[in-house]
Amino acid sequence: MAGLVAGFVPAFIQENVDLSSRNTFGIHARARYFCAARSLQELRVALQFRRVRQLPLLVLGGGSNVLLCADYPGVVVQMALLGIEVLAERDGELLVRAASGESWHGFVQHCLQNGYFGLENLALIPGSVGAAPIQNIGAYGVEVRDLVSEVTVLDVGSGEIETLTAAQCEFDYRDSVFKGRLRGRKIVLDVTFRLHRQPRVNLSYSALAQALSEVTDPQPGDVFAAVCAIRSSKLPDPAVLGNAGSFFKNPVIAKASYEKLLQTYAGLPSYPVHDRAGQLSTATVKVPAAWLIEQAGWKGKSCGRAAVYQQQPLVLVNLGGATALELVALARQIMASVERLFDIRLEPEVQWIPTEPLD
Ligand code: EPU
Repeated sequence: MAGLVAGFVPAFIQENVDLSSRNTFGIHARARYFCAARSLQELRVALQFRRVRQLPLLVLGGGSNVLLCADYPGVVVQMALLGIEVLAERDGELLVRAASGESWHGFVQHCLQNGYFGLENLALIPGSVGAAPIQNIGAYGVEVRDLVSEVTVLDVGSGEIETLTAAQCEFDYRDSVFKGRLRGRKIVLDVTFRLHRQPRVNLSYSALAQALSEVTDPQPGDVFAAVCAIRSSKLPDPAVLGNAGSFFKNPVIAKASYEKLLQTYAGLPSYPVHDRAGQLSTATVKVPAAWLIEQAGWKGKSCGRAAVYQQQPLVLVNLGGATALELVALARQIMASVERLFDIRLEPEVQWIPTEPLD
């Protein structure tokens, strides 16, 4: 690739771009430079451009898990690589590769329509395929780590293309190596999933089993429809009310602390915790952040134009015109009161950019 001349801005890179339609919170933040990378070539040019200009880089997927706390002083690249293909099919197992810019829900629908089963429980999750392994998206009893075979990435430093196996991705609850050790160092180009020709319906999540209790022999299509119905009833549509899904992770606490809390809060629910290898933890349990936030009295409360969603208090919403600082202030107040009441520190699930927001 020919070197970029200093001062030259490639035509597909725009200057001073409002990102409000590129993040599902609908926050008004501007990018000094913005581009949608529709090909590997455009991605490489964008990376070279930020290197020549010595600017910071922010890679966005669907913008559905970020809180843009300030204008971005560098280059924002939204991944827009498209394509879905079946790489192999053997003994009822399929390897299906999807490019990072594909819409997650569109991909789930495509698989269901073509009889590639396994992703149904993850229907209607906003965002892109490329973002799915980064935070190990999960819902209704399934996490994406259960289905990922490998992830193709571009090394930001060397420009080399590499393949990471599922084990190398170090998946954990809403976590992976891409949020840790390799943060900012790799860009996801595509993800290969191991799916099945034979339906394997997973009804381990009680709300889902309940929704399908009247259906005899539920099929993947029934699971897909039920998950869509549950999500639509509980979670606000970002196109209507800006939000980024769960704002906090469900905290994992020591079993001893949980038992102590039960003495005061007899109704506090708990869920089992599985470690990276999928082993059940005997020392820890997960407790629902939504329950803690509701008990702390935050349901429906607001700070300026930022509010706690009435139907699911784990979701913070933009009532229209909220600033990132209002969302940050609301989140911090919630964190402080949950810590005061339960001695539990809530950890944001949404990525704050920059990581340490300015007050
Ligand atoms: N709860 C309350 N009050 C409420 C709502 C919920 O106390 O108003 C308690 C109840 O005990 C309920 C429990 O919270 O049983 C769990 O609620 P829910 O089934 O809605 O799930 P969640 O734990 O709040 C997690 C994920 C969601 C995912 C759902 C379904 C995280 C951070 N969130 O939410 O993921 O869709 O389970 O599997 O793990 C996301 O990551 O953005 C997301 C939406």
